[in-house]
Amino acid sequence: MIREAHVTIGDRKTRYLEAGAGWPVLLIHGFPLNADMWRPQLERVPDGWRFVAPDLRGFGPAAAPGPEAAPATVDDFAGDLVVLLDRLHIDRAVIGGLSMGGYVTFALFRRSPERFSGIVLADTKSPADTPEGREGRRKMIELVRASGAAAVADQMLPKLLGAASARTRPELVSQVRQMIESTSVSAIAGALEALSARPDSTPDLARVAYPALIIVGAEDVLTPVADSEALDRGIARSSLVVLPGAGHLSNLESPDAFSKALADFLASSL
Ligand code: MLT
Repeated sequence: MIREAHVTIGDRKTRYLEAGAGWPVLLIHGFPLNADMWRPQLERVPDGWRFVAPDLRGFGPAAAPGPEAAPATVDDFAGDLVVLLDRLHIDRAVIGGLSMGGYVTFALFRRSPERFSGIVLADTKSPADTPEGREGRRKMIELVRASGAAAVADQMLPKLLGAASARTRPELVSQVRQMIESTSVSAIAGALEALSARPDSTPDLARVAYPALIIVGAEDVLTPVADSEALDRGIARSSLVVLPGAGHLSNLESPDAFSKALADFLASSL
């Protein structure tokens, strides 16, 4: 059963979803989604584990729209998560995220490596944005300010979902669209600034001394398999799982295979 709860971080009401009981696993969502993207994994928590999936600042149904909702940097997101862990009396956890959630995982690692007992990097990468990537973010900020979140959904959906999911899973397409369209313009624009300004995390890889699961959809066009192979080479105790038929949102597109890979990893990391 998935529980929904709230904590106040700063002056913001923050929602988190939670399921299971035992050693904690913190799951950080991608852009421009929210904690609901982790529901398939929250429905499949292995015995002895507690999954916690928070909404990042500005995201999710509890978020108040407005300029104060917008994060300035990925470090702001990471700082919020440290407060959340403190509030939940979680000293150490397996910590990971998908895509932007992976970038925030790296920021959290730089800030508080002692809070980790393992790391999960799904459909993500370590380098900073390229100049072309930053230009793309600038254009998307203009797009969302001019035309709203629906225009961002139109642009991103074909890249977020693999071809097979887009063709055969209309309910997933509308679920992802709904998550994007429910996000405020200020949260989307703020996160794009934060993503654009994020540092290169590649130098951190050699310092990751915990077990690491790297997982990626074979059809991911935003962070292709080669990005995950680079993470796998850079982290000493890592294993790489490539999910056939899935795109960038591999946990939603192949929920059973993703959850099995996660459960196998957790069992082996004990
Ligand atoms: C995400 O899924 O979080 C985004 O695609 C991240 C990015 O744009 O780099």
